[in-house]
Amino acid sequence: MRKVRILTVSSANMDFVMNVSKVPAGGETVQDPGTYSFIPGGKGANAAVAIQRLGGDSVFCTRLGNDSNGRTLKAIYESEGIDTRFIVTDSESNTGLAAIMVEPSGQNRIIVFPGSNSKICEKDIKDAMGCLPDALFMQLEISESAVLTAAGYAAEKGIPIFLDAGPARRDFPLDKLPRLEVFSPNETETEIFTGIKPSNPDACLKAAIALSELVDAHYYVIKLGGRGCYIYDGKYYYCLPTYDMPVVDTTAAGDAFTSALTLEYLRSGDMERAGKYANAVGSLAVGVRGAMPSIPTEAAVQKFIKAVGVFD
Ligand code: RIB
Repeated sequence: MRKVRILTVSSANMDFVMNVSKVPAGGETVQDPGTYSFIPGGKGANAAVAIQRLGGDSVFCTRLGNDSNGRTLKAIYESEGIDTRFIVTDSESNTGLAAIMVEPSGQNRIIVFPGSNSKICEKDIKDAMGCLPDALFMQLEISESAVLTAAGYAAEKGIPIFLDAGPARRDFPLDKLPRLEVFSPNETETEIFTGIKPSNPDACLKAAIALSELVDAHYYVIKLGGRGCYIYDGKYYYCLPTYDMPVVDTTAAGDAFTSALTLEYLRSGDMERAGKYANAVGSLAVGVRGAMPSIPTEAAVQKFIKAVGVFD
């Protein structure tokens, strides 16, 4: 069977990850016995890797700097089997960098220096669209104009658009987007866009309705972290709980979730099934440290699905 081809137009970062016992307060200097490392990440790259590891045909369009981080990241994507033909090397900017502090609870705080990610331009996108994707996947970690341009091209060609709303920007012109297949913010992003904290099923419904007034989509999928996800199609909703797994590091769990949801929805045409599958992928991702290393393979996901009875 032909694999589903998903074009990800989004960001790539090297993550500088600090495992700390406690994040410092303003003005405080802390000596921490924790560890630090450089780990491949970036919301777009995490999604592109997830799509490939989960059995999709992943095409990645991004910009990397002409530096050692850029070269390291491109080699990693190639070794994963991702189509890297539409990754452009930008000679004027550094590769994106994310500084991430992870506390023992697994909770993280991230600051991103976008660097070359902010240079993705119309030509990069137009070239990448030539791969004839079955779907376009994006997040908001690149420029507003890149997101709107890619969405415009996809809509013109009738290619379904899946938009993960992270990181949310209150001033992003959601009303300029064409109709999306899926719009998926996490809890914080939902609150930023709607002012409603999706802390219980009633609030989730209110937030989903508010989202539907801001952006035109077939499905609104609110990621609820350890509580799973809430899916709303303008009429019906599903609250899908996640699976109880020890949390080591939540970095990239959201990226893994939304890209898994996209892939499984395209494979099955069944959004409820896709939500359950994505919850399984997200649950596995929180059990491993780091962004890209935490993304499971399809074999690991299938084993988990059978063990836990995800579709029973
Ligand atoms: O979603 C996690 C990602 O956000 C990290 O890998 C970091 O690079 C930032 O983009």
